[in-house]
Amino acid sequence: MSKDEQIKEVMRRRTFAIIAHPDAGKTTLTEKLLLFGGAILLAGAVKARGDARRARSDWMKVERERGISVSASVMSFEFDSKAFNLLDTPGHEDFSEDTYRTLTAVDSAVMVIDGAKGIETQTRKLFEVCRMRDIPIITFINKMDREARDPFDLMDEIEKTLALDVTPASWPIGSGRDFLGCYDVIRDRLFLMNRKGFAAKVDEGIKCSGLDDPQLAEHLPEEALAKLREDVQMVRALCKPFDKDAYREGHMTPVFFGSAVNNFGVRELLQGLADFAPSPRPQPAAERIVKPEEEKVTGFVFKVQANMDPNHRDRIAFVRLCSGHFKRGMKLKHIRSEKTMAVNNAVLFLARERELAEDAYAGDIMGIPNHGTLRIGDTLSETEILRYVGVPSFAPEVLQRVHLDDPMKIKHLRKALEHFAEEGASQVFKPLSGSDWIVGVVGPLQFEVLSARIEAEYGLPAKFEGAGVEYARWVEGDAVKMKAFTEKYRMSLAEDHDGALVFLARNAWHLDRTREENPDLVFSKTREMNKAAA
Ligand code: G4P
Repeated sequence: MSKDEQIKEVMRRRTFAIIAHPDAGKTTLTEKLLLFGGAILLAGAVKARGDARRARSDWMKVERERGISVSASVMSFEFDSKAFNLLDTPGHEDFSEDTYRTLTAVDSAVMVIDGAKGIETQTRKLFEVCRMRDIPIITFINKMDREARDPFDLMDEIEKTLALDVTPASWPIGSGRDFLGCYDVIRDRLFLMNRKGFAAKVDEGIKCSGLDDPQLAEHLPEEALAKLREDVQMVRALCKPFDKDAYREGHMTPVFFGSAVNNFGVRELLQGLADFAPSPRPQPAAERIVKPEEEKVTGFVFKVQANMDPNHRDRIAFVRLCSGHFKRGMKLKHIRSEKTMAVNNAVLFLARERELAEDAYAGDIMGIPNHGTLRIGDTLSETEILRYVGVPSFAPEVLQRVHLDDPMKIKHLRKALEHFAEEGASQVFKPLSGSDWIVGVVGPLQFEVLSARIEAEYGLPAKFEGAGVEYARWVEGDAVKMKAFTEKYRMSLAEDHDGALVFLARNAWHLDRTREENPDLVFSKTREMNKAAA
């Protein structure tokens, strides 16, 4: 394949995730996007995992044999000659670090907001992660077919709470029972809502010369048209016009309105992604920035998924390709272990029919089955010694002490906890003084999942209980200062899975005070996963 062809493949890729608070409509929107992408058979099966879908093709065998559900983790489809990779961000009970880290593997995101609710807690948390990486965001305000909040209000809330410039890409005409459709503010088109279903919406809209176009009156009642004209005039005066560069730098979000369940506004959103969203971007490695069009293959592991069958300890590592043209069977260096691995059995998510694909490019995701060699944050590289950075561990938000009734089993417990830490399912801290480990997770429900897995996979009845600790922060600084700090604060210190020093604060006051007492040390909420190896 020529260089030009490789560049063409990279340029047409759009690797993105949908971020949303539970119930905003992420699943529904995903299904509709897949429909447009021609993956019709898969649509509708995002939530309900039927046997029919399982049996569809060869690579699904990997799932069946290994009991790992990889299919919903990456969904690939084509639209308007672009190749989309949609990465699922588990957002409900299993909201975890994985959710956050998936965002390190995308080039852009769609933020779905419930029009009646506005920005909710998880939307904001996920948005903050996008901001850390300047990930461009397109906003989709959903459920406009129901009574929604005033669109000006919603725009204002996004702008203020997220400190982001907003600009309308479309503007709603009414809401709830009176929702008639949207006006495409960027391309001057009218899209009318037809509540009867799918077919009527697959259209290009009504092309207008602008809001004064007389044909608008043929489609909209007088009052609605007057309000639309007034609204759009006002919103254009209030918001900066859409600026692709500002969007791509993560400073501006274009806002689409629609109703996912009615498949209204989804096509325009997808067109927006095709037109504006960035193709795979250069990725930072410790040594240098790697460009997607480079010849040699490189990539990093952003997620590891364990087998759901406890008798099989193998896992699937999800690798985001950052450069080169990957071909099945290629040999790649695993930088951390300095070993070379032949990647024969990688699951690629590329082909429309979801067959095993042979090639992949920057922006694509592949799943590599392995027995624990590949860890989150690891780099794979065809030739050069490189270490990708920017796949962080996030400070857990809930910390608990893990207790075992049988002290003889403590070694087993350690193994279990290390295993889960490698998988990225939780973090484990070994206090410098005291014997019980402290486990940290992002969402409290994860303790239930962990308990169940420790029991099922290791046969250990472990109990989690309060640890009297609210915050964990990685501490770094000059060696002499760190030594003094370690001695003085020993009772509140622990080591993480990689042996890095962590300060465990009883509460916000304890954390703030310790910070003030140690102005030369850095207390961080995130830590690079592969730092110890670097
Ligand atoms: P999530 O993945 O973000 O959690 O949301 P999901 O798509 O599951 O949607 C949550 C609920 O909101 C679902 O209703 C879904 O049908 C509904 N919904 C999604 N988009 C729209 C929309 O544009 N308008 C309206 N009115 N509702 C929408 P449910 O009753 O919880 O489930 P279901 O039985 O309808 O599937």
